[in-house]
Amino acid sequence: MGSTGTRRHGDKAAAIAEAAARLRAGEIVAFPTETVYGLGALATDGQAVAKVFEAKGRPSFNPLIVHVADLAAAEALAVFDAEARALAGRFWPGPLTLVLPLREGHGLSPLATAGLDTVGLRVPAHPVARALLAAVGGPVAAPSANRSGRLSPTRLDHVTSGLGDALGGAVEGGACAVGVESAILRTRPLALLREGGLPAEEIEAVLGRPLPRDLTPGRVQAPGQLSSHYAPGLPVRLNVTERAPDALLIGFGPVAGDLTLSASGDLREAAAALFDTLHRADALARERGRARLDVAPIPEVGLGRAIVDRLTRAAAPRNG
Ligand code: TXA
Ligand code: MG
Repeated sequence: MGSTGTRRHGDKAAAIAEAAARLRAGEIVAFPTETVYGLGALATDGQAVAKVFEAKGRPSFNPLIVHVADLAAAEALAVFDAEARALAGRFWPGPLTLVLPLREGHGLSPLATAGLDTVGLRVPAHPVARALLAAVGGPVAAPSANRSGRLSPTRLDHVTSGLGDALGGAVEGGACAVGVESAILRTRPLALLREGGLPAEEIEAVLGRPLPRDLTPGRVQAPGQLSSHYAPGLPVRLNVTERAPDALLIGFGPVAGDLTLSASGDLREAAAALFDTLHRADALARERGRARLDVAPIPEVGLGRAIVDRLTRAAAPRNG
């Protein structure tokens, strides 16, 4: 048993070392974070970053989140004021992306930052992501590892079924514990740009003041902010409490569905289950000949706002 454990551990370390070598060589590699799986490229290598846009079919004006191992690595790329440092100190590693002014000599590919004078930085908490970033020894640009406009992946099989052929490598890391993407916070001027895996209430508690929102779809160059995003294959309808014969019902709390996000009405459990449930519901609905996905009401507090945000975008009329 001990030797099996050791061998498994060795395999994992070897997989991480291999993935790091591929990233350094300019290939694109899928890896787990605590929010969703990312599709990584060395952020200083424009050609590698271009492969990410190509694999995702993503409009190239959208900047990518740059992942780093720790605050020191982040400070080499961007300028932190006292408030940004306090937020990083409190919430990193974790599901918070900070949008900060670029530091002179940052070395990031302008394709990763979409030519902006700011950068979205994040220190992920997943142990595989942390080990990978340490092994790469440089910043890794990584959007979610899905085709643009499709559901985000929270398991490796979501990644490989969507992007398999395009990948230069992939690292297994189990199911993502948080399940929705990071909250994105711009510090100057202060605004929440995307609801995410860190509830706004927790950020406000550290800031000691209410957090202005700048969540208007299309205002900021954020694909997660396009109105039709995170789309499963079938149409989605929200706030449904009764089963309809032509739809598959995704339940929450007292609304028992064909599937449920959380039978006990736990928002953390629901966030972690969200994308996998949508992936499974889509397949199940087709199997059972249902034309639509119905979703039970979700309370819009804490993580519930990020969940409702993703569901609303999944339910929006398709942009094509
Ligand atoms: O949890 C996450 O954030 C995941 C994992 C892989 O870390 N990543 C993720 O990346 O969701 P992506 O590319 O799907 O979303 C990144 C968002 C985009 O909507 C992008 O526009 C925004 O971050 N962003 C990046 N840099 C920005 C900047 N300088 N100003 C405003 N928004 C920015
Ligand atoms: Mg995404």
